[in-house]
Amino acid sequence: MGSVRAADVESAMERLRGRVRRTPVLTCGSLQRLAGRKLLFKCELFQRTGSFKIRGALNAVRILVEEAEKAGRERPRAVVTHSSGNHGQALARAARDEACKFPPATVPTGIPAYIVVPRTAPHCKQAAIRAYGATLVPCEPSDKSRAETAARVVQETGGVMVHPNQEPAVIAGQGTIALEVLEQAPEVNALVVPVGGGGMIAGIAVAIKALRPDVKVFAAEPRNADDCYQSKLRGELTPNRHNPVTIADAVKTSIGENTWPIIRDLVDDVLTVSEEEIKRATRLVWERMKLLIEPTAGVGVAAVLSEQFQAVPREVENVCIVLCGGNVDLSSLTWLTDLPGDGD
Ligand SMILES: Cc1ncc(COP(=O)(O)O)c(C=O)c1O
Repeated sequence: MGSVRAADVESAMERLRGRVRRTPVLTCGSLQRLAGRKLLFKCELFQRTGSFKIRGALNAVRILVEEAEKAGRERPRAVVTHSSGNHGQALARAARDEACKFPPATVPTGIPAYIVVPRTAPHCKQAAIRAYGATLVPCEPSDKSRAETAARVVQETGGVMVHPNQEPAVIAGQGTIALEVLEQAPEVNALVVPVGGGGMIAGIAVAIKALRPDVKVFAAEPRNADDCYQSKLRGELTPNRHNPVTIADAVKTSIGENTWPIIRDLVDDVLTVSEEEIKRATRLVWERMKLLIEPTAGVGVAAVLSEQFQAVPREVENVCIVLCGGNVDLSSLTWLTDLPGDGD
């Protein structure tokens, strides 16, 4: 399908073996009762770098290095990306880990990474990118500024762009989540996946529909950033027209040219949720499951708890929600006290 095939996801699985964590699939009785179905939680918040993003970033960087070695070329001089934070951390970590086998002692190992990050990205994510040794380049919080700044950095550094969600190797890497879920919970009838640029859901959908076409794939999106919903409704790629305002900071970005055809053809439906639903769901997971998910992961939980999900046929009994990340800015938790009726 499109530029990514199930075979690419299978090769990513081999490439990532032993390099990423096989995160657990957990259950939770009280959330299950609220949803009225069996819920399975794929815990990517426990993944290296705190989100699933390392899967795609590592797959992309490994392919670049393998191809250079095969062709007898130098490894990439640098890798560049733009990111709301999680892909930036993942690429920084993946690049740092690409140490030469026999480095001369005086030369630093790893591939230099330049990460373009919106000024408004959570501080914890910016700090983690720096801690992995990457160079952080600030930009304005818009898709346009992200893309333009990254293009400039590619020119200045001679680096290779690794797009956070449109790069086929990234999409294939994210798809490995689905292969693990099918092994860990073969009873699954549906996956619910938060969508930003759509790399995660595209990779998952390609793998699921090739191996288990009976399994439904649902996208979950903040209503304030509903470009995926609008695109499906209109049958054409419809990016967010304004910079979305949402607590789910990792899914403000719009789906793109590579992920749209896959989403159009393989994703069964898109569920949108309000800011209050996202906050409530996030808090529920903290309280009931004791898992420190970031609000973007709460989008999937909110979708399954929503009224809209009640319309999904009852035979969709075992629903797996991807808890996609746990990089929470603890200093920003003032919103907790804003929720009406809580704390009693
Ligand atoms: C925690 C988390 N969840 C979901 C997403 C959305 O992924 P995608 O852009 O591949 O749709 C992101 C992207 O940054 C993320 O960091």
